[in-house]
Amino acid sequence: MISHPYQIKSMQQYQTDYKQSIEFPDAFWENIASHFVWKKKWDQVCDWNFSEPKIEWFKGAKLNITENCIDRHLDTLANKPAIIWEPNNPEEASRTITYGELHRQVSAVAQMLTNIGVNKGDRVCIYMGMVPELAFAVLGCARIGAIHSVIFGGFSAQSIADRLEDAQASFIITCDGAFRGVKDIPLKSVIDDALIENKTVKKVLVLNRTRIPISMIKERDVWWEDEIAVAEKQLQAQEKFNFPAAEMDAEDPLFILYTSGSTGKPKGVVHTQAGYMVWANYTFINVFQYQPGQIHFCTADIGWITGHSYILYGPLSAGGTTLMFEGIPTWPDAGRFWDIVQKYRVNILYTAPTAIRSLMAFGLKPLEGKNLDSLQVLGSVGEPINEEAWQWFYKYVGKERCSIVDTWWQTETGGIMISNLAGITPQKPAHATLPLPGVLPVLVDEQGNELQGNSISGNLCIKQAWPAAIRTTYADHERCRTNYFATYANRYFTGDGALRDELGNYRITGRVDDVLNVSGHRIGTAEVENAINMHSGVVESAVVGYPHDVKGQGIYAYVIMEDHGHDAQLMRQNIIQTVVRIIGPIAKPDKIQFVKGLPKTRSGKIMRRILRKIAEGETEQLGDTTTLLDPSVVDDIKMGAKLI
Ligand code: WTA
Repeated sequence: MISHPYQIKSMQQYQTDYKQSIEFPDAFWENIASHFVWKKKWDQVCDWNFSEPKIEWFKGAKLNITENCIDRHLDTLANKPAIIWEPNNPEEASRTITYGELHRQVSAVAQMLTNIGVNKGDRVCIYMGMVPELAFAVLGCARIGAIHSVIFGGFSAQSIADRLEDAQASFIITCDGAFRGVKDIPLKSVIDDALIENKTVKKVLVLNRTRIPISMIKERDVWWEDEIAVAEKQLQAQEKFNFPAAEMDAEDPLFILYTSGSTGKPKGVVHTQAGYMVWANYTFINVFQYQPGQIHFCTADIGWITGHSYILYGPLSAGGTTLMFEGIPTWPDAGRFWDIVQKYRVNILYTAPTAIRSLMAFGLKPLEGKNLDSLQVLGSVGEPINEEAWQWFYKYVGKERCSIVDTWWQTETGGIMISNLAGITPQKPAHATLPLPGVLPVLVDEQGNELQGNSISGNLCIKQAWPAAIRTTYADHERCRTNYFATYANRYFTGDGALRDELGNYRITGRVDDVLNVSGHRIGTAEVENAINMHSGVVESAVVGYPHDVKGQGIYAYVIMEDHGHDAQLMRQNIIQTVVRIIGPIAKPDKIQFVKGLPKTRSGKIMRRILRKIAEGETEQLGDTTTLLDPSVVDDIKMGAKLI
């Protein structure tokens, strides 16, 4: 068993470590990094400025993250479970992949990718369901130094096409289909559509999962099963079944992950090798207080950053056991999570407020008779957790004896930034609480003035570089600068608003930009508007969020049509279909209101504040409407809203 020498063990240690990490970051991170496996050590710990931005950690070092996640554990953990996989259908056999087996699988994938022509630095798009081969594919890319770009299964062909184009991806790894609850999602067919106009992809590797009929295009499409068999044979013929890990520079890209912002198309957030590895590992060990042998169940999909950092890289680099679940919390019934906890004696359950709220709606019956004694730590991520959901989680799942960690972070931050440390630093319902060592948060007002003292609210920025900070947005560094580092000089702007209470605890209140958080998924309002506007007959649209009991935020679209004579219900469905085609099912509007005009200022800017208020059900206190070009549109919209 490996021990975790840098696990914080008391509030006092947290305070000293925190202080040291801010005052002497080089010494602090050098010590932590010394516990990893390097092919060559760094020349400099950290070099950064937020104005370009340039952020470099462990400069000059050489390493491979998979040696840190797999090879270094083989002496002690070869026969211990690395990944436990629970299938969608509880009747199907589960799988346990030991560290020894994981090493074989990842070696074979690395060999297979090399055989089909993947080189170091190539971009490989991964569009698979939550099967163990997805983990092998991600780690196989990392083993050879290819840059993985995982895309969540809920995105449409058009979204994938945009991402393939942006990343200039040359390979795709996918499945015939994916099981999710009662649904079979036709992944390969979506990929086929995404490739219609694509010019960069050379090969598509296809793994069999659902066995639905699919098209296989000669020369371009190859079966995983065939290729892996060849690769295994090659490795078996060698003295040792091992694919040597590529030597990577600390600042070589490890992966791209696309995420929505307030403007335009999703951006490819780039994370690099060393800083990301250290951060995913350090935060995993400290926030969850992971102990060797514990079973960690993160319910996210690997298509999101949470899955990257806390299903794969964090737990595996710590020699942990990570549970990967293919299905959904409500199938075959709303007790599925509890069945899984009981079946595997899960110790840490890390999930999203949306999942908690949707399970709350089923009442306590699904929890009855389920043995949840093994649980020690519960975690929440992705959106603000409301007090009611926090209490339910604490009381009925944690039986008032488990710590809850409310972890605030973002795709761009690579790992957890603000959170209590389970059982070590105090928890407070609905508060992410204190920053992790290395994180220096500040609150600023609209002008960028730093707000001092406690009991205050403002826009959340980070003032100092941390190891897993976003390095760039793929192929467009300027976009990274303008999006994150230009709003406030010398600060990384998160896009979130926050309160700091009298004790210095942070409470994240939600996005202050035009980004929605729907069921923990980030969606830009501009993206949804663009998609709606693609529908023929739509003149203009404006999208805002509104409070939704389960999803946190719902999507409310105000739409102007050319002709009002159509069947409104059918038109709504057509618009929804258009959004599903352009972005994917995750961006479906919950409410569509047809309007004759939108509240615009004389300079043509839509006053979203008014639309937001109306979407929230507020019709009286709309604030100042005198600057509107035509204030009467507001009355129209208010009337119409009552009918939605
Ligand atoms: C929100 C997910 C409140 C926030 C890891 C952030 C949260 C966005 C929390 C990032 C939390 C995440 N409390 N809000 N504990 N965690 N958020 O990139 O608005 O998918 O900016 O990363 O989710 O979403 P992303």
